[in-house]
Amino acid sequence: MSGTEEIEAFQTVAWVGDAARGSLRLIDQTRLPTEFLEIDCHDAPTVWEAIKLLRVRGAPAIGVAAGYGAVIGARSQGLADAATVRRALGEATAYLRTSRPTAVNLFWALDRMDATAAAAGAGVSSGNGSALLDRLLTEAHAIADEDRAMCRAIGRHGAELVVPGEGILTHCNAGGLATSDYGTALAVIFSAHEQGKHVRVYADETRPLLQGARLTAWELQRRGVPVTLICDNMAAQVMKEGKVQKVVVGADRIAANGDTANKIGTYGVAVLARAHGIPFYVAAPSSTFDLAIPDGAAIPIEQRESHEVTHGFGRQTAPSGVDVYNPAFDVTPAELIAGIITEKGVIRPVNHETIREVIGN
Ligand code: MRU
Repeated sequence: MSGTEEIEAFQTVAWVGDAARGSLRLIDQTRLPTEFLEIDCHDAPTVWEAIKLLRVRGAPAIGVAAGYGAVIGARSQGLADAATVRRALGEATAYLRTSRPTAVNLFWALDRMDATAAAAGAGVSSGNGSALLDRLLTEAHAIADEDRAMCRAIGRHGAELVVPGEGILTHCNAGGLATSDYGTALAVIFSAHEQGKHVRVYADETRPLLQGARLTAWELQRRGVPVTLICDNMAAQVMKEGKVQKVVVGADRIAANGDTANKIGTYGVAVLARAHGIPFYVAAPSSTFDLAIPDGAAIPIEQRESHEVTHGFGRQTAPSGVDVYNPAFDVTPAELIAGIITEKGVIRPVNHETIREVIGN
């Protein structure tokens, strides 16, 4: 890994080529920070596996990758006619929905792809599979482009909340690696940094898969933002020492009342922030809201392999056969959240009414 030229160059999720033969290019995030490796996905199972294994991860990036994965799946039975493409698309989107359960962006993006095919019914002649596939690629590009724009807007709104010289704690990775570009929680920090606000970030390492250590610290360093890495269990002490004035995290799914699912450990950080009188903010695009779910109790929480806890990064660190509980996410209750920074503005206070007002139906 070397050179600042890669800072501008890295693209978390990209499409290479045309609709009929192109592929989805991803940074394999399981290899960071020591290796920068890109993989090309040419079939839906490879996309499914990349999402499942967290080669691509972070709610918005999962949605963008799934949109392109749907295009790849839609051509898998040939382009003889629109009906064939539509059938293959339906099978691919159903399959990709089974990759991970919590981030609603996955389902939101796949719903958009299915709706695009349904809406194209009238406009695309029954013989023209290629035309439908082109429409689907256009939609996948739109999902990626909109995400990029939403992240920039989140950065602008969030930076207004940042006071010069603040210490900001974040958990997991909600940066450019978790989105099309620039991030959500990290967009707020990048934007404040670019405005010369001299922030310092405390990055929780984020057990068990270390997205904070491997990805957030890497992104912040590359952009020249001062960052101090801490183990998750140090957050209380760091807050007590007065080093943190704000917490900003991302989200995987936000219920209609503002309860927010994010990486396991986020809820604990929110409780600590409340105990120390530190405002706790969530930064997320409207694609991460699930207004069909009344509150956090209905958010599905992904359970992952025990191996991630007992054999982190290749070394056994627990006795063989020990029982393990490994939920990948937790839910922070709305009452602990000072505000939700969206591309449409900051939702504050966080409740059913304010969310509906800003995000709509
Ligand atoms: O398991 P991960 O790495 O996909 O979890 C990611 C997070 O929890 C992020 O904070 C969230 O998706 C927001 S990304 C902008």
